[in-house]
Amino acid sequence: MRVSANGLSLAYDDRGAGIPVLFIHGYPLNRQIWQPQLAGLADVARVLALDLPGHGESQAAPGPYGMDRLADACNAFLDGVGLSEPVVVCGLSMGGYVAMAFYRQYGPRAAGLILAATRAGADTEEGRSGRDKSVQLVREKGPQAIAGQMLPKMLSPNAYREKPGLVEQVRRIMEGISPEAIEADLVGMRDRPDSYQTLAEASVPLLIIHGADDQIMPVDVAKEMQAANRGAALEIIPEAGHLLNLEQPERFNAAVRSFLEQR
Ligand code: MLT
Repeated sequence: MRVSANGLSLAYDDRGAGIPVLFIHGYPLNRQIWQPQLAGLADVARVLALDLPGHGESQAAPGPYGMDRLADACNAFLDGVGLSEPVVVCGLSMGGYVAMAFYRQYGPRAAGLILAATRAGADTEEGRSGRDKSVQLVREKGPQAIAGQMLPKMLSPNAYREKPGLVEQVRRIMEGISPEAIEADLVGMRDRPDSYQTLAEASVPLLIIHGADDQIMPVDVAKEMQAANRGAALEIIPEAGHLLNLEQPERFNAAVRSFLEQR
């Protein structure tokens, strides 16, 4: 499906009925990562998964995106699909940065936050220079080089032995993201602000969910996020890496389902 949002044509999936839940993908990915949630949660929620501008089948916005502009796109997307009631916003990794930016700017629109495999802190100096190196890499060698660098870290170590189909699926998604979108994501993530205050002040139900075997963001970052907000729940999913929703869809969906029921 497609909708016009702030003049951009955005692609999305929309399935089920009930409390609307907006799923925001990470980097360098697209909405295909949410297929298990579209299939597994549509009986309890209206599951909306969009391709961020420039990703998947969505039109690119001119100029740098930044997390705030991606949050603006999510807000315009909700207008575009005609949703006026508050939605639960679920972001994975970079999608979590966007979810926190969304909450900062459009808080009353959020009925809850699910922050998956993400962190609230800004990039360190080392992290920022790593982003610049990745920008060079994508300019010189393209998305395949980025995918090649990231693929071994996206899933738990076990998945590379036991789930070759999943590994290939993730590789295909990453290789399909345009170099321009990859660069915009890298610059946007590099320059994003610290979100600990946003997290501390969040007054909506909050679920932090993380893979026990995440090789990109250690579980400690999830524990630190939980410590920052008195009401936050933390779920650590065993046998799951960074893309925990794809790797352990039943466990991930069960955690989301119970969060939605308890809100
Ligand atoms: C992601 O999965 O979205 C990224 O790994 C996040 C990041 O690099 O900070």
